[in-house]
Amino acid sequence: MKITIIGAGAVGATTADNIARANFAEEVVLLDIKEGVAEGKAQDMMQTAALLGFDTKIKGVTNDYLQTAGSSVAVITSGIPRKPGMTREELIGTNANIVKTVVENLVKHSPEIIILVVSNPMDTMTYLALKTSGLPKNRIIGMGGALDSARFKFQLATKLNASPSDLNALVIGGHGDTTMIPLIQKATWNSLPVTQFLTEEEQTDIVKKTMVGGATLTALIGTSAWYAPGAATAAMVKSIVLNENKLFTASVYLEGEMGEDDINIGVPVIINKKGWDRIVPLELTKEEQASFKASAEAVRHMNAVLKD
Ligand code: LAC
Repeated sequence: MKITIIGAGAVGATTADNIARANFAEEVVLLDIKEGVAEGKAQDMMQTAALLGFDTKIKGVTNDYLQTAGSSVAVITSGIPRKPGMTREELIGTNANIVKTVVENLVKHSPEIIILVVSNPMDTMTYLALKTSGLPKNRIIGMGGALDSARFKFQLATKLNASPSDLNALVIGGHGDTTMIPLIQKATWNSLPVTQFLTEEEQTDIVKKTMVGGATLTALIGTSAWYAPGAATAAMVKSIVLNENKLFTASVYLEGEMGEDDINIGVPVIINKKGWDRIVPLELTKEEQASFKASAEAVRHMNAVLKD
């Protein structure tokens, strides 16, 4: 089982590190366009194997797609990250060209591949990957909702002084500061509705903080985050490789589901060896439905830039 990660920047390297530590994959190929960077980071990680106790081989390569041949899964993290004050959407011009080239190269060497897209603006980059690859829709997955849902659980856990893993909470919709929809009415604390324990004001605050979760980190760090993005991506890769059937929000291609067509956007799906296997139906309130529609409009607006 070979996993390829395109981009040895902070998110790509952290994803590789998390996959290796979890010790479920035979080989991870880390590819970057900058001479030596992927090789160096791969060697650095391999030197932790004796300390952390894993057998996954991490191999770094400079732009050599031949080394990715026969991969089951690829993660695309390449492109420029956002700087403080920037939205994910502002990255579209540069990242669209990069993602297109990466997808073509990946599919050429691994026709059976499942592709996870992390590059921003993520929903649009996932849509572009699907259209460029010609692969069945189930083999193209956008990573955003899993991360946003983890950030939502962090906000809930902090406010409730609870264990994050005791929380069940989903963020659906686009992976954007204004387009994501944290479903607080449906969130539970070990099956108890969180709304029981939070005032209206606290709920609004948690939702707001979740939505700007990425931007808050960008302002603090000076560039885009990597620990939670890397952990969320690795968890999805694991669910594919081990056929775990885990439920994540992921950006997938809709053909009429949730009232939307010809768009990639975040909905709850089951992730297994087929990629995203099926959409988990959701009953949305009128308000949530309206938010989802508005979110889809915003993503569609962004997709239209691809055609310019
Ligand atoms: C974030 C980037 C990965 O939200 O979109 O941190």
